[in-house]
Amino acid sequence: MALPLRSLSPAPPDPILGLSEAFKADTRPDKVNLSVGVYIDETGVTPVIPSVQEAERRLLERAGSKGYLPIDGRPAFKSAVRDLVFGADSEIVQSGRSVTAQTPGGTGALRVAADFLLQTGSSKTIWLSEPTWPNHPQLFSIAGFALRTYPYLDDSGRGVDVGKMLGALRSAAPGDVVLLHGSCHNPSGVDPDQDTWAAIGEIVVERELLPVVDFAYQGFGFGLREDADWLSGLAQPGQEFLVCTSYSKNFALYNERVGALTIVAADPLRAASALSHVKIAIRSNYSNPPAHGADIVETILNDPALRAQWEVDLAGMRNRILGNRAALVDALVAANVPGNWEPIRRQRGMFALLGLSAEQVARLRDEFGVYVVGRGRINVAGFTAANLPLVVVAVKSVIEG
Ligand SMILES: Cc1ncc(COP(=O)(O)O)c(C=O)c1O
Repeated sequence: MALPLRSLSPAPPDPILGLSEAFKADTRPDKVNLSVGVYIDETGVTPVIPSVQEAERRLLERAGSKGYLPIDGRPAFKSAVRDLVFGADSEIVQSGRSVTAQTPGGTGALRVAADFLLQTGSSKTIWLSEPTWPNHPQLFSIAGFALRTYPYLDDSGRGVDVGKMLGALRSAAPGDVVLLHGSCHNPSGVDPDQDTWAAIGEIVVERELLPVVDFAYQGFGFGLREDADWLSGLAQPGQEFLVCTSYSKNFALYNERVGALTIVAADPLRAASALSHVKIAIRSNYSNPPAHGADIVETILNDPALRAQWEVDLAGMRNRILGNRAALVDALVAANVPGNWEPIRRQRGMFALLGLSAEQVARLRDEFGVYVVGRGRINVAGFTAANLPLVVVAVKSVIEG
């Protein structure tokens, strides 16, 4: 019996990770990779941050075991990350109406969330922002959801189109799932303000929608608590929602695959019941999570000195990105590159959208060896003093035609 492939033609490469493969194969010495969402320091490498180095040293000294973790992960990790998202004194943590499962990365959290929702009979419709991270539509449709989109950016591509976004959410059917980026919207770097979060929260209640918050960049925007301002709109007493967190970015633990799914329910009983179903989704998929990355995160968050070091490390990454935003805008303006660049200075997180055509993106790659995603999504952390001038010349050239 042959493999059940509908066609032997290869599947298309991943729109982001596939570009990295093309980048590796590119032999031009001054090529620049601004495609993958990975922090890069001024020397062009993705470092192991000092707090992680110290935590790993301590873990090595600790008598370890490679026995299985519980299906939903280590309890100390779960409570530490819950405190990080909501705050230890928050109503959500204090009331015990939330439960957490440790997952392999933020992607694992999203997939477990999708499986949990469909297995427990949720609406099969999920609303995604347009644009969004390309893995969202792929992941949720393969899990079994029908996809709908809500418009997100205004015509300039530099701000949220609040009217259109809220209008689309108002048209969702009761029970529909809505995916919201908690902060540092990928790909735009443009986030709702407090008033918009409040309005989203009202629509969620009125229309009885179920939010899934993808919170992959806590601390990469303006700060750990500042980036959790979405809570003001969604975390109302009794409101139920899911949060998918990633520790790939804020701990620079990309290849350790560490993340978490937290479910906030109306009360502790409903939360415990939800966790029992989450465990089935995990057990039938990858059985139980990997330990090492989560052990690092737990070690850091539960030790005051290490936690303080981590906050310094995180601020270093955040400030470098903010500095790069300013340097990019300054360089584009100084070179008279046509476009509205100033708002990029105030956007949040790793990404900015240059707003290019597919043809311009192809020219950046083919003529200049500058790799960007989709319609010109760039990883702002990917700039160094050495490569910024080349990127600005390339962008100016493709925009001016
Ligand atoms: C919006 C968004 N969600 C989730 C993830 C998943 O992160 P992880 O690498 O932890 O799976 C990413 C990573 O790029 C992301 O940008």
